[in-house]
Amino acid sequence: MSDLNHLIAEAQTDFIACDALPALENAKAKYLGKTGLLTDALKGLGKLSAEERPAAGAAINVVKQAIEQALNARREAILDAAQAQQLANESLDITLPARAQSRGGLHPVTLTLQRIEQLFHSIGFDVANGPEIETDFYNFTALNIPENHPARAMHDTFYVDESHVLRTHTSPVQVHYMQNQQPPLKIIAPGRVYRVDSDATHSPMFHQVEGLWVDEDISFANLKGVVQDFLQKFFERDDLTVRFRPSFFPFTEPSAEMDMSWNGSWLEIGGCGMVHPEVFKHVNIDSEQYRGFAFGLGVERLAMLRYGVNDLRHFFNNDLRFLQQFIK
Ligand code: FA5
Repeated sequence: MSDLNHLIAEAQTDFIACDALPALENAKAKYLGKTGLLTDALKGLGKLSAEERPAAGAAINVVKQAIEQALNARREAILDAAQAQQLANESLDITLPARAQSRGGLHPVTLTLQRIEQLFHSIGFDVANGPEIETDFYNFTALNIPENHPARAMHDTFYVDESHVLRTHTSPVQVHYMQNQQPPLKIIAPGRVYRVDSDATHSPMFHQVEGLWVDEDISFANLKGVVQDFLQKFFERDDLTVRFRPSFFPFTEPSAEMDMSWNGSWLEIGGCGMVHPEVFKHVNIDSEQYRGFAFGLGVERLAMLRYGVNDLRHFFNNDLRFLQQFIK
C-alpha cells in the first residue's frame, strides 16, 4: 500500500513536468494505461486471498482517483495556459491611434456642372440627357449638317463605325428631346462630348451644357438675357462682360459665339443662336408657330475662368495636388 501511495506523488511530479497535452497523455499511460502501474496493481488483486482483496481493491481505487484528479487538474491548467496565451497573442490595443483616412472630394468639373444645373433649375429649366455614341443622323443630319457639307469639317470627329460617332457636341440631345416632346420646351442637357483636339484650351473629351427654350414668342433678346444672367450668377459678378460675336452654326440662324475676357484677351465659352427652321422640320415642330433659342457652353472653359486655371488639361491629369485644392 505504501508503494501505491508513493505513486500519487510520483504521478503529480510527472504531470507537472508536462506543459502540453500530448506529453500529458504519455505520462498518463505510465500509470493508467493498459500496461500502466495501477493497471498492474489491479491485475495483482487476483493473487490475493478473498479476505485481503476488498481492502486492497479499495486502496488501489483511492490511489487511482487521486492520480486521475491530478491528471485532470494538470490538463485544465494546460488548456487554461494555452487559452491565456492565445488571448494575449490576439489582443488588440484599442488605445493605438487609427490609420488616417484621406478625404475625397468632388472633381472641379462635377462641381461646375452641379452649379450650372442648380442655376438653370432655379429659372425653370429641366435637365435632359442623350447617348454619348450617336448616329450620324442625330449628331449631324438632323442638325442641318448633311453629308459632304463643309460644316462637318468643323468638328474633328471620332468615328465608332461608318454610321456612329462619339458625339461631338450636346446639340443632338435637342433633336431627341424635340422628337418626343411638344413645345413649350425649356431644357438644359449637360454631358460629355468628344473631339480630336488637344491643347491648353482643348481636350479630346470635355463637357458641354446645351440649352434649349422653344415657345411661341422666344427671341434673341431672351437668349442674351438668359445667358448673361446665368453667367453673372455663375461668376458672382454683376459687372461681368460677355461678348456676343456673330458666327455660323448650321443649326441656328442667326448664330453667335460667346466670349469672356481671360488673361487680357477673350476666351470662347460657347455658341448660340435661334433654332434653324430646318431643325424644326426634322422634328415636326411648326416653325411658323414656334421659335426657340439654343446654346452650347464649354463646361471646362467655365471652370477654368471660375477657378483661375490656365491649362484645361489640368482637369484630366488626375494630379492630386491640383484636385485637392477643390476639396471643401
Ligand atoms: C458647338 O459645339 C455647338 N453645338 C454649340 C451650339 C449649341 C451653338 C446650340 C448653337 C446652338 P463649338 O464647337 O463652338 O459649338 O463648341 C462650343 C464650346 O465648347 C466652345 O465654345 C468651347 O467653350 C467648348 N469647346 C469646344 N471644343 C473644345 C475642346 N476640345 N475642349 C474643351 N472645350 C471645347
